[in-house]
Amino acid sequence: MVELTIDRIKTRVPEGTTVLEAAGEMGIVIPTLCHYSGLSPYGACRVCIVEVIKGDRSSLEASCTLPVAEGQVILTASEKVKRARKVIIELLISSCPNSKTLQDMAANMGINEVRFKIKDRNCILCGLCVRYCKEQMQSGGIGFIGRGTSRRVSVAFGVTPEECRNCGGCEWICPVCERACTADNLVNGLCGGCQNLTPVETCPFCTYCSESVGATGHKVY
Ligand code: SF4
Ligand code: SF4
Ligand code: FES
Repeated sequence: MVELTIDRIKTRVPEGTTVLEAAGEMGIVIPTLCHYSGLSPYGACRVCIVEVIKGDRSSLEASCTLPVAEGQVILTASEKVKRARKVIIELLISSCPNSKTLQDMAANMGINEVRFKIKDRNCILCGLCVRYCKEQMQSGGIGFIGRGTSRRVSVAFGVTPEECRNCGGCEWICPVCERACTADNLVNGLCGGCQNLTPVETCPFCTYCSESVGATGHKVY
């Protein structure tokens, strides 16, 4: 077992546990985007960063790929973490403004403008779809192609390959296409519509969850 301190509380977890998992065991919620329990960790989005204290210095590291270590001291929501996380979300929104997941995160974190130029790429390169396809479906239907700003998810030669099982999992798991933001009047890169928790007309039993279920059973945003 390994003993460490997370948010000033000592805990003991098995060796090999990640800091994200250890925090989760304690009920501490660290936001994530490219992490999905059961798929291999990827460390792409950096939303899950935590502050690792080393004496009078500290560093920011992705908790989903950071293994616990004896005597480690972690802060999951320090001012340094919150500031950096906001910049990361701004950057992600600038490449994917129509992701409801990202817009919700921005609203929860109190972000009120995106200071980066919006270049809607409709993908944040989180790799969830690729890992799901390979690891869960044992398929190789999709993969990353290109480098740098040309990097994107694609099928080989633009043709649906035989390996694809048409399971739809790659769309289901995508934080961008899974929940598209339908608002089309972004202000400073932000929608802000979901901050309005007024119940929608189609929901007869609204519990103010912000995701109302419509009369026909589907989600209405
Ligand atoms: S629909 Fe095809 S490409 Fe997408 S996850 Fe399933 S097998 Fe992979
Ligand atoms: S298509 Fe979606 S799931 Fe796949 S890498 Fe891009 S954002 Fe992630
Ligand atoms: S959830 Fe850890 S880097 Fe994306």
